[in-house]
Amino acid sequence: MKTRLCSMLGIDFPLVAFSHCRDVVAAVSKAGGFGVFGATNGKMTPDQLKIELDWIDAHVDGMPYGLDIAVPENMDDRDAEHITTKMLEAQIPETHRQFADDLLAKHGVATDTPVDSDEDREISHFLDTAEKMVDEGLRHPIKLFVNALGKPPQFMIDKCKAAGVPVGALIGSKDHARRQLDAGVDVLVAQGTEAAAHCGEVSTMVLVPEVVRELEAMGSEVPVLAAGGIVTGRQMAAAMTMGAAGVWTGSVWLTTRESDVHPAVRERLLAARSRDTIRSRAMTGKTARQLKSAWNEAWESAESPGPLPMPFQHLLTNRALLLSEKSVDGGNEAARAMLTEGVGQGIGMISTAQSSRSVVQAFMEDFAAALERMNSLVDE
Ligand SMILES: Cc1cc2nc3c(=O)[nH]c(=O)nc-3n(C[C@H](O)[C@H](O)[C@H](O)COP(=O)(O)O)c2cc1C
Repeated sequence: MKTRLCSMLGIDFPLVAFSHCRDVVAAVSKAGGFGVFGATNGKMTPDQLKIELDWIDAHVDGMPYGLDIAVPENMDDRDAEHITTKMLEAQIPETHRQFADDLLAKHGVATDTPVDSDEDREISHFLDTAEKMVDEGLRHPIKLFVNALGKPPQFMIDKCKAAGVPVGALIGSKDHARRQLDAGVDVLVAQGTEAAAHCGEVSTMVLVPEVVRELEAMGSEVPVLAAGGIVTGRQMAAAMTMGAAGVWTGSVWLTTRESDVHPAVRERLLAARSRDTIRSRAMTGKTARQLKSAWNEAWESAESPGPLPMPFQHLLTNRALLLSEKSVDGGNEAARAMLTEGVGQGIGMISTAQSSRSVVQAFMEDFAAALERMNSLVDE
């Protein structure tokens, strides 16, 4: 395919794969898709980002890839400086800490075992750390730099423009589209409610044509990637028929062989049906779609003290999930019910673990078959 987006990103097939796992990113880009590294997991710091991107550079065979960070436009104290996880943890109310610990205990999970999340570290949601992440990102040959959770910070837009790297942003409504274009964004990811993680209420089927039409009315040629629930080439064809320049996917990569999700989480994902996800604030403090589990059920229940705002709830969740995974590893079957992951409704269509390369190839074949089917209808 020779489209504006394809030449912007240096690809032929506009299948974008968001993943927190560097192995998935490199595998997708090498297979002819476009991997985007999500530098947003609980352990990511500017130093760690350098390690991850150096690894991708060494393993991607010169193929193009992108980077994604999440700097929330709406988060209290976003511009506070030198904030670390320990400082934030100290502000978590005892009621919430106790609620989490009681829930873990109810599932036989020991709360006194050390886990990775206990280390003190910077958090990229805050502007000073985010700026270091942007600087590190731009030292690598990335072809797209995306921000989630609102308008990218001005320094991100300015630095990317100076480096000639297109900036992308995730949106969940047509109003967001206008605001992002005014801010100077080069690529929009229109993410419907079916999607994993932070998402709005409008379905991909409605949001994509709505955003595309809005852009047409504005005379804008900014490409729109469709996201949310897309796990097959036929859905990609449908999205592009609606005017999308390509697709942006997340959930479909979680269960791939290269993915680093915990094996027990992978098992739960492969067994999940499309209705086994829920939109809840239980995971991060902002509404996000995730696999239903004892964790989100409890935070949504009448006994819950209510999830904390971002980033506090995220810290509680990180620790609880790491402890639960450790407990499963130690043979505690009851802890499996606690496991969750950000995942979209498309997970119901995935029941086997495949290599990322196979997933890209399956997308290409299914996409081509869908086009042939449409053409044959028109010919008749
Ligand atoms: C585990 C997980 C975590 C995610 N975290 C982020 C994130 O930090 N930043 C971001 O831009 N998008 C994030 N997303 C959303 C993806 O970028 C993408 O928009 C979404 O997965 C698309 O919908 P789908 O999951 O139905 O394919 C995440 C997705 C998953 C699966």
